[in-house]
Amino acid sequence: MNPRDRLIVALDVARQEEALALVDQLSGEISYFKVGLQLFTAAGPQIVRAIIERGANVFLDLKLHDIPNTVAKAVAAAGSLGAKMMTIHLSGGREMVAAAVGSKAPGVTLLGVTVLTSSTDETLRECGVAATAVDQVLRLARLGADAGIDGFVTSPHEVDSVRAECGEELTLVVPGVRPIWAGADDQKRFMTPREAVERGADYLVVGRPITAQDDPLQAVNRIVDELVEAPPVA
Ligand code: C5P
Repeated sequence: MNPRDRLIVALDVARQEEALALVDQLSGEISYFKVGLQLFTAAGPQIVRAIIERGANVFLDLKLHDIPNTVAKAVAAAGSLGAKMMTIHLSGGREMVAAAVGSKAPGVTLLGVTVLTSSTDETLRECGVAATAVDQVLRLARLGADAGIDGFVTSPHEVDSVRAECGEELTLVVPGVRPIWAGADDQKRFMTPREAVERGADYLVVGRPITAQDDPLQAVNRIVDELVEAPPVA
């Protein structure tokens, strides 16, 4: 895969104008932008149409979790809107995941969220889940794969184990990466983009190391350069 095509820029901004300014700056260099709950709630479906009109692809990261019928309808609606990648929570269970898989438009990559990285073993216990977060990630990944999901959003630290559990053909989308020259922000257990790809990430979600820079285009080019550098000699 061309390193530029691996990058997904997270448009975690409050207003449509800010988001489209970034898309206008970057869409010649990269092909995917992530629209999450903040921007979608503020700007509505129009933001997805506006990004697509500019020739880019949209990863609609709404992490759907509801009764199977509602999730299936929302996945179909997101496909009609033109989103090419979208997320559902695998903790909605096999029936919900299968309903979502059955209603996605052709060409859509449906990604499962296992356990949010903000959740700890204690968070799971509070919710009545006795498994550790690590075990729960693999359990839900297996459930998703069995129900026909196309891939997962995984932390860089889970890439190896999820890949081993679910096979080569599934798409792994990895946030929580930081180039060495960028600040950590609030990411605690990050990896560089290069390390994440070497471990098996297909796509990388990068937000602030690009969007908060004075020159976002230069930041994209630096990350791409790091991805294409020859691996170090052992
Ligand atoms: O600015 P930053 O690169 O930290 O943004 C990362 C993006 O990936 C954000 O949209 C964030 O919500 C998302 N994300 C994450 N960690 C996860 C799951 C999603 O940072 N475990």
